[in-house]
Order: sequence, then C-alpha cells, then structure tokens
Amino acid sequence: MTAAPPPRCDRIAELTADQFQARLPEALQIYVTAMGYPPATAQQRAPMWSAHMQRAGWRCIGAFSEQDQLIGIGYGYLGAPGQWWHEQVRRGLLSSGTEIGDWLDDYFELTELHVHPAGQGAGIGERVLRQLLTDAPGDKVLLSTPEGPTRAWRLYRRVGFTDVLRNYRFTGDPRPFAVLGRPLPLEER
Ligand SMILES: CC(C)(COP(=O)(O)OP(=O)(O)OC[C@H]1O[C@@H](n2cnc3c(N)ncnc32)[C@H](O)[C@@H]1OP(=O)(O)O)[C@@H](O)C(=O)NCCC(=O)NCCS
Repeated sequence: MTAAPPPRCDRIAELTADQFQARLPEALQIYVTAMGYPPATAQQRAPMWSAHMQRAGWRCIGAFSEQDQLIGIGYGYLGAPGQWWHEQVRRGLLSSGTEIGDWLDDYFELTELHVHPAGQGAGIGERVLRQLLTDAPGDKVLLSTPEGPTRAWRLYRRVGFTDVLRNYRFTGDPRPFAVLGRPLPLEER
C-alpha cells in the first residue's frame, strides 16, 4: 500500500518527455484519484498520454513534495486540425452557431491539470497552471472542463479564462462540458 503523498509542495518544475514517461504511473494515479475515476482508467489512458508527448509544443509541469513525490501535474500541446479534441470543439462551435473566429488557430490546448486530493486547496494547481502557460506556445490557450461550479472553475476564472462554448457534449461522454479560453501570454503578476 502506498502512503498518501504529503500536501506540502516543495518545488514546481518542468518535465521533459523522458522524465514524464518515467513518472507516468504516478501522474496517472493522481489523475484517476483527482477525477474520481475507476483505477483501471489509468492503464487505459497511458498510451494516449504517451502519444501526446510526441505532439508539437508539448509542455509539462509537475509539483513535487519534499520526498520528491509527484503531487500535481499539468500538460498541454499545440492543438491542430485532425486531433480528436480540436475536431470536437470545431463541431461544437459550428453546431452552436458560435463564431469560430481565430479560436482554433495557433492555440495551446491545456489537456490535463490535476492535483492529488491530499494537496488540493493550497494553491498548487494555480502554480502549476501559471508555470505551464508561461512560455507555452500559441497566442491563446483553450481547455475543456465539466460544467461547474467546481474548484477548477474558480481557478480558471481567476486566471482569466472566458467562455468559448458552454454545455457541450463531447462524443462518448454524457456530461456537459465548457470550453474556456484566454489569450497568451499571461500578464506579469
Ligand atoms: C482543479 C485543481 C487542479 C485545482 O488545484 P488546487 O491546487 O486544488 O487549487 P488551486 O491552486 O486553485 O488552489 C486554490 C485554493 O487554495 C486556497 N489557497 C490556500 N493557500 C493558497 C495560496 N498560497 N495560493 C493560492 N491559493 C491558496 C485558495 O483559497 C483556493 O481555495 P478555493 O478553490 O476553495 O477558492 C484540483 O482541485 C484538481 O485536481 N481537481 C480535480 C481534478 C480536476 O477537476 N481537474 C481539472 C479538470 S479540467
């Protein structure tokens, strides 16, 4: 039995693809725990997360405990036509009659952001998010999140994300999602 990671964050650091690959089981464990998904979801997601590392503009930030355990993770990459999420969002925008504008050009897709429940509510997610978006490629960032109110929603609003598409149902998931976005770079704090 693995001990729950301590909530104190010792450092926030960028991970190379090799470093992330080595930490993948830990990262997926945070993901399923934070999202409340069945443990088997971790194994199912592993090939997809590995494939994402090969995408242009991939960038990953981790939060680490004093014992060097991963307690938070965030990653994303440059979105592009042909990618599943990109095509889903395009379909959603078109079907809702929303003006696509340049939302789907030159954007960084914030794909995953999770903090282990033992470490949530102490500002770790915001630190990971801000560091991930600092120096992220693209002139804007887009993400999707289940409709709130949730801690994730408060975080995204605090960091300046606004609505791109609301109450959208991605193929294969019955939950309504919001697509949120904001320009890059982030303002200096
Ligand atoms: C969403 C998530 C990544 C946010 O990470 P987090 O570390 O829990 O949250 P934040 O960094 O926003 O922490 C801010 C909270 O900590 C509190 N806090 C305490 N000390 C703080 C500090 N020094 N700095 C900032 N916030 C601090 C704030 O008051 C705030 O509380 P609130 O959200 O109740 O208003 C995390 O909660 C999570 O993994 N959730 C489940 C998975 C999920 O939904 N992921 C996103 C899917 S799109």
